[in-house]
Amino acid sequence: MLRPADIHPGAGERRISMEPVNLTEKGKKLAHPAEFAPRIFADTADMDEIKPLKEGGIINGVTTNPTLLKRAGADSWDSADKIMKEIVKYMAPFPVSLELTELEPEKMVVQANKLAAFGDNVVVKVPTGGYRLMDRDPFTGLKMIRRLWEMNIKVNATLIFNTTQAFWAANAGAAYVSPFLGRLADYMYKHDHVERVPGNSLYFMEDHKAPDGGPERTANSAYVSTDGPRKNAGVRLINEIVAVFNNYRIKTEVLAASFRNSVQLMECLLAGADILTVPAPLLMGVADHPLTDEGMKAFFEDSKVFDR
Ligand code: E4P
Repeated sequence: MLRPADIHPGAGERRISMEPVNLTEKGKKLAHPAEFAPRIFADTADMDEIKPLKEGGIINGVTTNPTLLKRAGADSWDSADKIMKEIVKYMAPFPVSLELTELEPEKMVVQANKLAAFGDNVVVKVPTGGYRLMDRDPFTGLKMIRRLWEMNIKVNATLIFNTTQAFWAANAGAAYVSPFLGRLADYMYKHDHVERVPGNSLYFMEDHKAPDGGPERTANSAYVSTDGPRKNAGVRLINEIVAVFNNYRIKTEVLAASFRNSVQLMECLLAGADILTVPAPLLMGVADHPLTDEGMKAFFEDSKVFDR
């Protein structure tokens, strides 16, 4: 587990240079104590999950993707659009990320315009990669991010697995970058050779040769891939991106994504993530602790004596 001492000291400084999240209305006596708290989004396209979380004040945004839409029942573009529109309307003015599925630049722009027209709170998710497998252009994602920024469309640069992707996405104009911390850790668990240093499947590039037998590519920084247990790799990535953004006062928000457990939530809070996007079942448990239950029960029982 990432310990507080592993976290670079600039994380807190960075947060207070960002836009406040919990605002206090003018004239209100009690100021909100967590003005610069991170935003918490629900990572789902299911309205039945979104509604209680928004009503409970637990979330202030939503991220979706085609897999989540399919899971929520979408089986055609009509039904997918209907679900996306409903979420966007329900969550307004909070941000809702909707993902591009087109792979060819001009079609991507048309789709981005369509999604952005669903509401002012839409953020368009652009996969950050170079789309090498399709058009061999190493910059398709980055060019699209810059193009949408020029069109005043907010972008969430998604499917990020290393710090250089995050930096260049920010440099292209992305409002959010989404490092998929759970998938990164899962990948290492699955592909690493245990006899070698942690993170070797990324560091040595054994499972990811460049397409068409080209030269092998560097997949990750040594810090993220090898500097500690495999299960920490995702959170080390968040820590590294926050440190780099802090160095250059980059205002792009670090949206930690692909959570697998509540320990990762805590670690991202330590690391200074700006946004956590969390599956509903994990959010349902954030206020739980067995000792809280036990203590509450005892206090309740003891208070009965006052009723006599
Ligand atoms: C983020 O925006 C993505 O929707 C999400 O976190 C993906 O996570 P997964 O790895 O659980 O699919």
